[in-house]
Amino acid sequence: MKLTTHLALILASLFPLVLGYWGQNSYGATHTSDTANWQKTLSFYCQDNSIDAFPLAFLDVAFDTGGLPSINLANICNVNDDSVFPGTDLPNCSFLASDIQACQAKGKIVTISIGGATGAVSFTSDAQAQQFADTIWNVFLGGSSSTRPFGSAVLDGVDLDLEGGSPSHWSAFVTQIRSHASGASKKYYITGAPQCPFPDAYLGSVINAVGFDAVYVQFYNNYCGLQAFNDPNSWNFAQWDNWAKTVSPNKNVKVYIGAPAASLAAGSGYVSASTLATYALQTRSQYSSFGGVMLWDASQAYANGNFAASIKSALSNGGTSVPATSPPASSTSHTTTTASSSTPSPSPTGGSCGTVAPWVNNVAYVGGNQATYGGHLWTAKWWNYGEIPGGNSFYMSSACLS
Ligand SMILES: *[C@@H]1O[C@H](CO)[C@@H](O)[C@H](O)[C@H]1NC(C)=O
Repeated sequence: MKLTTHLALILASLFPLVLGYWGQNSYGATHTSDTANWQKTLSFYCQDNSIDAFPLAFLDVAFDTGGLPSINLANICNVNDDSVFPGTDLPNCSFLASDIQACQAKGKIVTISIGGATGAVSFTSDAQAQQFADTIWNVFLGGSSSTRPFGSAVLDGVDLDLEGGSPSHWSAFVTQIRSHASGASKKYYITGAPQCPFPDAYLGSVINAVGFDAVYVQFYNNYCGLQAFNDPNSWNFAQWDNWAKTVSPNKNVKVYIGAPAASLAAGSGYVSASTLATYALQTRSQYSSFGGVMLWDASQAYANGNFAASIKSALSNGGTSVPATSPPASSTSHTTTTASSSTPSPSPTGGSCGTVAPWVNNVAYVGGNQATYGGHLWTAKWWNYGEIPGGNSFYMSSACLS
């Protein structure tokens, strides 16, 4: 059993569990004077294991005066503060090449995200969409160009965060990217970030027409956001799961819970890290399309304690729940002598712990999960991991009679 769990974790880790948009310095936009916590350069966020993939936000202009796109990475690189390639509005951000390569060397995925709240990238024909795909391939991905904003770094794919412009012709764009990528030596990802109301106004038709690897559904700023997780009339992950399995051309498309990483990161939908972890684990246990959690954005997550790390820890610990009904033979090895001796001695005044398994320190418990420890039955109040019953995260349900 341990082997299969381990194997499952290895397989799961092939796909990112936690995504963080990077580029827009959302923290700086909501905390203009706290410059110390403004968005840092990309490699800062790759030093630890909490975020597995970074869509770079955003490519907000498809065709500048020179026929090239433009990008805006807020305080890190933009068309006003950095040099542009001659005759274009495309900033030369080649100082980020080593950052991107350092992240990729750690197994992290770095993609270019097209669109954004103020972007309005759209096409007048399939041919124009294909031409744009050729440009994206040459400028950011596996092609070649003298105007590569990230120099020798080869990004890992394209994310579509379309929130304006026309929804037409995007399937021609995606198909053309796929066609370039089909002969390549590495995997290129195509992802999208629809808003939670289904179907999405801008991405609805393209995600139905061509296969995506993942969708990062924005469960915020909307009635169907995370604030409504416990309201079955509003929370609609089931609709997205059903889309994944019955409509999407890629039936293995992964659906992510997109979440604000701090209270000011979105107008609505923010929940604490422990609540988000609980919701994510519950969603994973209900819907097989669940892929992980997307955070808006990296700057907010890192200024908000260990927000991203908590979510990563919850998702990577396999998650759920109560260990199997029969206690593991070696369960005593999880309980140190110190921990046992500091536990109040059992006072068997009634109640039975039945078949509930002993608490173990390498399982994440979500609210409502039960475990036995020190002669008592404990119920988790909220998501926790490695917290010995007796602290704040469990309440004592009853004593156990053995
Ligand atoms: C882009 O910037 C780098 C670093 O400043 C520089 O070496 C390179 O020549 C620039 N590329 C172009 C085409 O201007």
